[in-house]
Amino acid sequence: MSTREVSVTVNGTAYRHAVEPRLLLSDFLRGTLGLTGTHVGCEHGVCGACSVRVDGVVLRGCLMLAVQCDGARVDTIEGVADAEEITDLQQAFVARNALQCGYCTPGMLLTAQELLARGGLPTREQIRAHLSGNYCRCTGYQAIIDAVEAVAQARAGVKS
Ligand code: FES
Ligand code: FES
Repeated sequence: MSTREVSVTVNGTAYRHAVEPRLLLSDFLRGTLGLTGTHVGCEHGVCGACSVRVDGVVLRGCLMLAVQCDGARVDTIEGVADAEEITDLQQAFVARNALQCGYCTPGMLLTAQELLARGGLPTREQIRAHLSGNYCRCTGYQAIIDAVEAVAQARAGVKS
């Protein structure tokens, strides 16, 4: 099997690896780099468990090839959490029981942060719409929306 060199910056660290051209970004992150916070559910772009940021945009890791990220900056849940970018979201998820098995949680957090980073005060409907591509089999979604709404209000300085 032929391989191709890929140079990619993941969570601020530069990597260079020879990979099979068919290797998915999600499998590269999990299997090659050991970043297992990126989860794999459906593997065909439906559930959102594999969400990662590529050059600042949240994308499905299972719909991208690792070689397509050559020269890109990728942020996973590990990097975003370690940078304390989502500490308030993580705390709100815990406080409001917005996770049970946790399988969807990394993707939910990254996707929610994408919305909140735009600033302003999104409505519950806007939060729900933004998270609509991320499936959760456990929570029924209400607690997730509650948690994201609470953080949106806190970041906007709105007293709840
Ligand atoms: S594993 Fe990628 S969208 Fe489900
Ligand atoms: S907490 Fe289990 S899938 Fe969302």
